[in-house]
Amino acid sequence: MPYNRRQFIQASATAVAATSLIGCGGEDTVVIDTSLPVGPYNASSTAEEVTRGMDLSGKTALVTGCNSGIGHETMRVLAQRGAHVFGTGRTLAKAQEACDSVSGRTTPVALELSDFDSCIACANTVAEQTGSLDMLILNAGIGSFTDFELINGIEKIFVVNYLGHVVLTMNLLPLVQAAQRGRIVHVGSQMGYRSVPEGGIDFDNLRGEAEYDASLAYGRSKLANALFSLQLSTMLDPAETTSNAVHPGFVKSNIGRNATGVVGFLYNNVAEVIQKNVGEGAATQVYVATNPLLEGVSGAYFEDCNPVKINLPNYVFDRALADRLWVETQQILGDYIAA
Ligand SMILES: NC(=O)c1ccc[n+]([C@@H]2O[C@H](COP(=O)([O-])OP(=O)(O)OC[C@H]3O[C@@H](n4cnc5c(N)ncnc54)[C@H](OP(=O)(O)O)[C@@H]3O)[C@@H](O)[C@H]2O)c1
Repeated sequence: MPYNRRQFIQASATAVAATSLIGCGGEDTVVIDTSLPVGPYNASSTAEEVTRGMDLSGKTALVTGCNSGIGHETMRVLAQRGAHVFGTGRTLAKAQEACDSVSGRTTPVALELSDFDSCIACANTVAEQTGSLDMLILNAGIGSFTDFELINGIEKIFVVNYLGHVVLTMNLLPLVQAAQRGRIVHVGSQMGYRSVPEGGIDFDNLRGEAEYDASLAYGRSKLANALFSLQLSTMLDPAETTSNAVHPGFVKSNIGRNATGVVGFLYNNVAEVIQKNVGEGAATQVYVATNPLLEGVSGAYFEDCNPVKINLPNYVFDRALADRLWVETQQILGDYIAA
């Protein structure tokens, strides 16, 4: 079947995305930020290793997207170390099945990020069951193998990966602030600086005004995750509550499930020779959520279990852009985030 123009652009974009991801170990793309505490872990550390000997009993965590890939491993290891983990799935049945598949104390909660009422219902359900959240891990997401779609007038990847998580976070914030030194971890991606529109966030294209490029749309959503992390770090006292962003690495998960054609074949069959397994993929977010070294560290960006600076032109630490995004986000979300 011949490709139409949109399919061609999308295939090209996904090829670029895959290439970028495969090149993600690029030498000196990032350097460890030695102005922040640096731990003993690296790209091959696993979530189990970074929490070895840790007792998280008495702590509560919420992990979005607990039924698959990196999120499932994150929930599994936090529960193994004694935390009570609220695991979200797009349906209660999916979350329940995932929770049943791990040992320890877990509670399933429904969360459909494209539905802001569901985000609020999720936050309310959690609030009925706990007075505080020590770790909020914003992990769920869709990849760049996503057809163009508007949800309530806004491009779908931006809605699911970014806006839905903003609604959830702002409605859970009182619980995170009620915890002693609560931590919010935003799962971004290197694509947030490798593949973004001109200017970082193309505010004049959030409603599909220009040509759709799935790779740029994904990168934009992941940059938005990082900028939201930065914004929260300026709004919250780091001695009380921290907010940091991570890139998990190029990880064998289900994120490429919708990839088709040559790109799909490469992504889902060949790429695994260089991909991290889910244990390695979950390590950075679990490290940032739990390690005592990082007490008070906020507004940082982590790769391979280390805080890093980025050696490419990027917007990840752009406070002016974070401010602008926050203003636009408040306008879009209105009452959904008005506490
Ligand atoms: N894998 C990588 O190489 C890589 C690289 C960089 C960043 N990341 C990031 O890592 C995070 C985890 O991804 P993964 O690789 O573990 O992918 P995955 O295996 O596909 O898991 C994604 C999770 O997000 C959930 N999700 C998707 N759409 C949702 C929605 N509308 N509402 C609520 N939940 C939704 C999925 O639920 P369903 O299963 O029900 O769809 C699933 O639980 C994502 O934020 C991704 O962007 C991954």
